[in-house]
Amino acid sequence: MMLTRYRIALVIGSLRQGSFNRQLAAMLDARAPDDFLLHRVEIGDLPLYNQDDDEHQAPAVLRLRDDILTSAAVIFVTPEYNRSIPGVLKNAIDHASRPYGASAWRRKPAGVVGVSEGAMGTSLAQQHLRNILASLDMPTLGLPEIFIQAKQGMFADTESAATDLVPILTNWMAAFAPWVRRINSDNA
Ligand code: FNR
Repeated sequence: MMLTRYRIALVIGSLRQGSFNRQLAAMLDARAPDDFLLHRVEIGDLPLYNQDDDEHQAPAVLRLRDDILTSAAVIFVTPEYNRSIPGVLKNAIDHASRPYGASAWRRKPAGVVGVSEGAMGTSLAQQHLRNILASLDMPTLGLPEIFIQAKQGMFADTESAATDLVPILTNWMAAFAPWVRRINSDNA
């Protein structure tokens, strides 16, 4: 019997070289089951969204749409900027939601996690993102939630605070993976 493999899009809401969220995404990737292939979706080269371009989307936008359309699910890993999601992430979401009636996001199961410096560890950004995903008709894993407050050097080495994250991420993936498989078999 052939094993179904699931291509999972990782959309990271930070373009920063040393991004905590990028490192969190790498830790999640390391905890993915064998049938999940996580890949990072590039959003840093997208133009600013302009509705005038809906009928002739830029190559980077078409690539983003294709990346999402060929994925079985999407994991958003995002920091919080000014109590919401970063503009670069909203820009990417808006791009792939167009043209009208042909959103690439529709019905893709989604997971939402994040790390930021504030004590609430992206909770407000995640809640805003959940509102957006609901409008895109993306079923979103409810629990468990992951809110992480960044500590300097937390992803630096295996002795760091990141080791505390291992059971949290393992537990999250153990809930996300079967849920994604179930939704994809329902959609098939
Ligand atoms: C922030 N930061 C931040 N943190 C937070 O917890 N709540 C917030 O509202 C904000 N607001 C905010 C706005 C802007 C414009 C910046 C640049 C930063 C701090 C943020 O959590 C920190 O820079 C993280 O390190 C960003 O995530 P990455 O880039 O490390 O993944």
